[in-house]
Amino acid sequence: MKKAQMADMFDHIAPRYDFLNSLLSFGIHRSWRKKAIRLLEKENPQSILDIATGTADFAIEALTLHPKKVVGIDISEGMLRLGREKLKKKRLENSIQLLPGDSENLPFDAHSFDAVTVAFGVRNFENLEKGLSAIFGVLKPGGSLVVLEFSTPRNAFVKGIYHFYFHRVTPFVGRLFSKDMAAYTYLPESVSAFPDGDRFVSILQQNGFSGISCYRLTLGIATIYMGKK
Ligand SMILES: C[S@@+](CC[C@H](N)C(=O)[O-])C[C@H]1O[C@@H](n2cnc3c(N)ncnc32)[C@H](O)[C@@H]1O
Repeated sequence: MKKAQMADMFDHIAPRYDFLNSLLSFGIHRSWRKKAIRLLEKENPQSILDIATGTADFAIEALTLHPKKVVGIDISEGMLRLGREKLKKKRLENSIQLLPGDSENLPFDAHSFDAVTVAFGVRNFENLEKGLSAIFGVLKPGGSLVVLEFSTPRNAFVKGIYHFYFHRVTPFVGRLFSKDMAAYTYLPESVSAFPDGDRFVSILQQNGFSGISCYRLTLGIATIYMGKK
């Protein structure tokens, strides 16, 4: 999907995004986020960039690491607006800076961040390799990348239930609440098309990352990838 189209889609679903995240995942996404951010604990990152930050949930979770600086960027102004409202309600507007920005063209100097995080974002990059190489550029040497992304379960039985839920129930419920005809059909399609697991590990390696670990979550329906510059 083209970037402008992607931004329009997220602008449109932004008001219902958080609600649908919790409804469709039965709230499990919160524990996935916590686990992913906890992996950075021993790195003690002082500057963190959250790419495709959306309504800022991952950036907010990153504050548990007590960094000096957290910046979130996203191409959808609609998602960022909701994120800013959330930060204001939580009195966190001075703790996280939310900026418009594209993963493939990051508006930061090289070697600016100790850690980069991306939750449910890499799958949406128009050009995955370009996005990953831009991330590599803004990370400090020795810095860490943590990616949380949906993945397709391997077990045939789990896969059957997952397929029904994700390809039938999710688009129906998503359409009902978001009033967007395409977004929640795009979601399972983009997950199926994403090179998950070992394929994503190889792509990370090809883009310079090393020491990559991979953690499959909840029967393999999501995966955390962690790599170093
Ligand atoms: C599924 S949402 C995830 C939001 C948030 N990270 C979360 O965990 O809830 C995907 C986000 O990626 C953003 N996005 C898609 N392509 C992008 C790009 N090239 N650069 C920056 N953000 C992008 C969308 O606007 C959207 O807010």
